[in-house]
Amino acid sequence: MISPGFPREMQFFTRGLREQGARVVGLGDQPEGALPAVAREHLSAYLHVDSFQDEEAVVQRVVDVATRIPLHRVECLWEPYLVLAARIRERLGLPGLTVQETIPFRDKEVMKRLLDAAGIRTPHHYSATTANGVVEAAETIGYPVVVKPIDGAGSESTHRVGSREELEGILPGLRSVPEVSVEEFVQGEDMTFDTLAVDGEILHESVATYIPRALDMKVNEWISPITLVYRELDQPELAPGREMGRRVLEALGFQTGYTHMEWYRTPSGEAVFGEIGARSPGAGLVDLINYASDIDTYAGWAECVVHGRFTQDVERKYNAAWIYKRARGQGRIQRYEGLEAILSEYGESIVEVDLNPIGAPRRDWRRQLVGDGLVVVRHPDLERTRRMAERIASHLHVVAG
Ligand SMILES: Nc1ncnc2c1ncn2[C@@H]1O[C@H](COP(=O)(O)OP(=O)(O)O)[C@@H](O)[C@H]1O
Ligand SMILES: [Mg+2]
Repeated sequence: MISPGFPREMQFFTRGLREQGARVVGLGDQPEGALPAVAREHLSAYLHVDSFQDEEAVVQRVVDVATRIPLHRVECLWEPYLVLAARIRERLGLPGLTVQETIPFRDKEVMKRLLDAAGIRTPHHYSATTANGVVEAAETIGYPVVVKPIDGAGSESTHRVGSREELEGILPGLRSVPEVSVEEFVQGEDMTFDTLAVDGEILHESVATYIPRALDMKVNEWISPITLVYRELDQPELAPGREMGRRVLEALGFQTGYTHMEWYRTPSGEAVFGEIGARSPGAGLVDLINYASDIDTYAGWAECVVHGRFTQDVERKYNAAWIYKRARGQGRIQRYEGLEAILSEYGESIVEVDLNPIGAPRRDWRRQLVGDGLVVVRHPDLERTRRMAERIASHLHVVAG
């Protein structure tokens, strides 16, 4: 298991593997003492590397270890090391995605070209490696466009560009980005399609929406981002995205594990492809998926990987939403405003409140998606869940000073 303790979720996947009967060898750049306790307790051994920078050196370390400890699978759910995982698999002759099969999940241009060939609706797109190339692509597509790194994450260095002047304004900031995607800007909502699959067959699926769109929450500090997991998947609004998701997994030859796809739902109801990762969704979306059905997809993922099945009973009970809060003001957290009213009004539907403690320094919302804390609500009715989430977004304030 590569990076068994970081990000936070990885410890629970690691535990899942152990509970499914696997002996888990961790490979990570965190010192053993810095691993979260849950990860440490469920590892049979831990191989510490100072850094993942020199991939070949890391592969060689694992190959050496494999002469003493027989390794049967290499798993990784942390985006930066997916190719490394594939390289180790290839070297050891183990099952799972190869390097060739992993690259389309890492390079957003290769990804979209493959999906175009499969007849899937992607945004009109070009790759560019020079400032002139970006301008040329943008003018061919027509404004507004989106410019983003081909291997970006968390909307980092991602821009919506409305005109040539705006484009000239952002080009200097992109000098450090070797290759970008220039895309048609697709109007609509940001949606996800998250799956657990075995041998290409989807055994569990979930759909969520980001409110507002990920790029809007990234550029506006005052926004409290909401993510909402749908209870009811069999509604017509979600059908085009689910159908697209199946075709995408097939086109990319995904086999076993967690996947996280993003798609855009246009005002006319069309699904347009966004991106896909051969990994679990980040930022706590796994927890939200679990809350929606009272299931454990950490363990469920491990069951898929270790035993090739997913046997949890899934009763879709709730729509589940998180609301992330960003403190108002600078300095230390002074108080929470509106918390009591929200607890007394929605108490039964609130399953988690985890706010940055009073007295703690406010966090950098640009670096930590969760900002200064979160509230999680769930309810069987979609509209009620959405209304509660929106009300918490607008009426709960974490105040720093
Ligand atoms: N072609 C596009 N049209 C509209 N919005 C886009 C487009 N591409 C990206 N975005 C916005 O930027 C966000 C981040 O882009 P994405 O490709 O998902 O990269 P990341 O890996 O950073 O999440 C998306 O969730 C969406 O809000
Ligand atoms: Mg994204």
